[in-house]
Amino acid sequence: MKSHKNTKIRKAVFPVGGLGTRFLPATKSMPKEMLPVVDKPLIHYAFEEAKAAGVEQFIFVTGRNKHAINDHFDNVYELQSVLGARNKRKELELTSDWLPEAGNVIFVRQQEPLGLGHAVWCARHLVGDEPFAVILADDMVLSKTPCLQQMAGAYAQVGGNILGVMDIPRAQTASYGIVDIDDKKKPADKRLVAAKGLVEKPAPDKAPSTLSIIGRYILQPEVFTLLDKQQPGAGGEIQLTDAIARMQDIYGYRFEGTRYDCGSLSGFVAANVAYALERKDLRGQVIKELDAVLERSGVKK
Ligand code: UTP
Repeated sequence: MKSHKNTKIRKAVFPVGGLGTRFLPATKSMPKEMLPVVDKPLIHYAFEEAKAAGVEQFIFVTGRNKHAINDHFDNVYELQSVLGARNKRKELELTSDWLPEAGNVIFVRQQEPLGLGHAVWCARHLVGDEPFAVILADDMVLSKTPCLQQMAGAYAQVGGNILGVMDIPRAQTASYGIVDIDDKKKPADKRLVAAKGLVEKPAPDKAPSTLSIIGRYILQPEVFTLLDKQQPGAGGEIQLTDAIARMQDIYGYRFEGTRYDCGSLSGFVAANVAYALERKDLRGQVIKELDAVLERSGVKK
């Protein structure tokens, strides 16, 4: 395997081709990734995180029913002209000031949702022969330094393949990809853990550890060659974890921050509360309203 240790991560892949069935009926005509946490869609947070890590090209692997994501990364002339005419400068900025340079937002279609591994593979021609990041927008990380930026720092030290990881209760291992830790290798960065393997969704008694993979990856392009031949795994889907497990130089990175699983209903609600509480303009009022809700619903006496 080539060492891309000092190569900057210029490209990020955002797999957004899933069906989002846990959010039906909301996701009947709207992509899950456009669900807002406070006032920004999930995909916008993912985009900002990639940008903060130095990413320049944003590759979205979409499916049917995902047009709203394309539109989100474009101008919206009618609204912009009305806002301009009314001199609403702040609102105008929110619609377009953050748009990447033309040509740096790229969409590719996953015709069938055959799994995360398949979605990433669909981006192979656009990524080419360089290391790249993968961000799952429905995993949010609230942290001081954006999660992918933390991982890019670790990548600059060790190269290889770096996966965002966190400790979970053993009873939950069947819901995650789990790291098989290599105790013999001790990376200098205390947040890094060397892995000798990965197991997708193992039963608690079979799990090699309780270190679970979240939706943040820095990967070498060799993963595409492995995905070429990857057979369906857990859930009949082509699993990204299974392909990474066959690679060399795999590390878990215990990021600083709190992860919210916005692919689940409760995680999504929790993220809305947590992100609202981070906002100076909302915090006070939200606390008051939450208190009132907890009292009215009998949770708080
Ligand atoms: P999930 O496992 O959360 O699946 O995918 P999902 O379809 O989005 O949601 P549910 O389980 O039906 O509610 C994790 C990420 O991988 C993407 C999803 O869009 C999501 O960002 N994905 C999954 C794809 O892009 N393609 C796939 O074939 C599967």
